[in-house]
Amino acid sequence: MSKWFVPICAWLALTQLPAAAQSGAYFTPGSRLAAACANCHGTEGRTQGQLLPRLAGQPRSDLERALREYKGGQRSGTVMPQIAKGLQEEQIILLAQWYASLPAGAQP
Ligand code: HEC
Repeated sequence: MSKWFVPICAWLALTQLPAAAQSGAYFTPGSRLAAACANCHGTEGRTQGQLLPRLAGQPRSDLERALREYKGGQRSGTVMPQIAKGLQEEQIILLAQWYASLPAGAQP
């Protein structure tokens, strides 16, 4: 198997699937990437009454650090280390920017 197989699949999943939902000004590069996170973290990163951490409204630097640490193996988790390995630095920044820009909303 080519060494590019996994990165290309990750790229397709992160860029092409969310692009299917693309329309209107609401959608930014960050929000399109975040479509891949919404199943678990909720629409706009607001999980309610669940065990998953809320992403909306967290400081950008905290989100970036968490994703870099999952990616680099310094932070443990069940699924995030695997997911973060598929993210490029540029995508980590866009995702963190977008989630940080959202209102935190009600605490679960
Ligand atoms: C399959 C479900 C799932 C998906 C998809 C998912 N996450 Fe997570 N996320 C989790 C879980 C569960 C945790 C808690 C850590 C762990 O167990 O891995 C978490 C933790 C996090 C944290 C740490 C938050 C904190 O306050 O500690 C961040 C940041 C994060 N996820 C970002 C993302 C981003 C960005 C995406 C999309 C690229 C994403 N997640 C996709 C399940 C998911």
